[in-house]
Amino acid sequence: MIELAARVSNSFRKTWSTTPDVVSIAPGRVNLIGEHTDYTGGFVLPAAIDRHIVVAAKRTNGSKVTGYSVDFDNIANCPVGEYDPEHPVEWFHYVAGVLSELERTGHFVPGFCFSVGGDIPIGAGLSSSAALEMAVLTALEGLLGIRMDDREAALLCQRAENDFVGMNCGIMDQLISRMGQRDHALLIDCTSLSVEPVDANLPGYSWLVIDSGKRRGLVDSEYNQRRSECEQALAVARTLFPNREIRNLRDVSSDALPALRQVCDDKVYRRLRHVITENERVLKTVDALRRRDAETVGRLLYQSHESLRDDFEVSCKELDSTVETLSQTPGVSGARLTGAGFGGAVVALARTNTIPVIAKAIKETGAQVFSIKIDDGVRLLEVHR
Ligand code: GLA
Repeated sequence: MIELAARVSNSFRKTWSTTPDVVSIAPGRVNLIGEHTDYTGGFVLPAAIDRHIVVAAKRTNGSKVTGYSVDFDNIANCPVGEYDPEHPVEWFHYVAGVLSELERTGHFVPGFCFSVGGDIPIGAGLSSSAALEMAVLTALEGLLGIRMDDREAALLCQRAENDFVGMNCGIMDQLISRMGQRDHALLIDCTSLSVEPVDANLPGYSWLVIDSGKRRGLVDSEYNQRRSECEQALAVARTLFPNREIRNLRDVSSDALPALRQVCDDKVYRRLRHVITENERVLKTVDALRRRDAETVGRLLYQSHESLRDDFEVSCKELDSTVETLSQTPGVSGARLTGAGFGGAVVALARTNTIPVIAKAIKETGAQVFSIKIDDGVRLLEVHR
């Protein structure tokens, strides 16, 4: 972590021939369970991980925003106040989106220069984009000497991604990047945005992230289509139960499924069944974690994967075969795709003493295991001049 921050700070000094005023470091995340439930007001259980995006920044006297990406080795800039969603440098869209939202909420954006770098693999389902947004926002808060409310900050970054980047994501990734807690997953209620830390460490077990190697472009994927199918499902549920208060799909429980099956078309019904059963699995997982019951947690992970594969249809052959390999490897309690799907990573719970055997089995499939630590949310680091 510190090494990445030092690398980006050193690059800043070289590129801009000065020292940064602030350095922010924002984590990626792994979602333990609760997939495609955030944008329907449901429950999710993500954890921040020790993979980050770092932004080092300094105010300038001019009225330009200029940034250097250590990883892409390119520079992007724009005049303050002129944020172009079609900017030729793609990573800069996330920066411009955050600045544009900051201005829309009445904050002053000064001219500044920055360097950015990270160690979260892009397109692996570990939320490098939310981490970038959160690192930029937190650096700006540092430059302006303000500290926003955590939920407002997460919502601002979500709007940047929805309205500026064009990806209609939910709130999970931005909220966990902001509010993550070391050694804990956060049970997030995506209706009220309340969060509850849940100790995610099970003695003798480890959480593993396996990068399937298949990359996905989220904006181009079917993600936005799944959202609209969920909206159709909500409309059907409201029509079927006019006397119930249904704010979102989270207010529909599995006892309503038989009646819904009669009136929904098959695809919409399966989307609905995934969301409803997944919300229930999140709460069961929290309960099992609190009881230190690794086998039950593992079973729920497999069930979640099946539901995402068959009902929500966001898996792909690489993710399925990684989960299949894991299910045949001794010591693995459970595994599922994590993040939006269509490629990216699998999260697994396994006995710690079997990790070398698991890593070997996974390597043979071309995928890659990384061991992760559950880390804190975004922070500003001390800058030593
Ligand atoms: C992406 C989105 C999240 C969430 C997940 C699926 O990571 O950014 O808001 O919807 O997909 O659970």
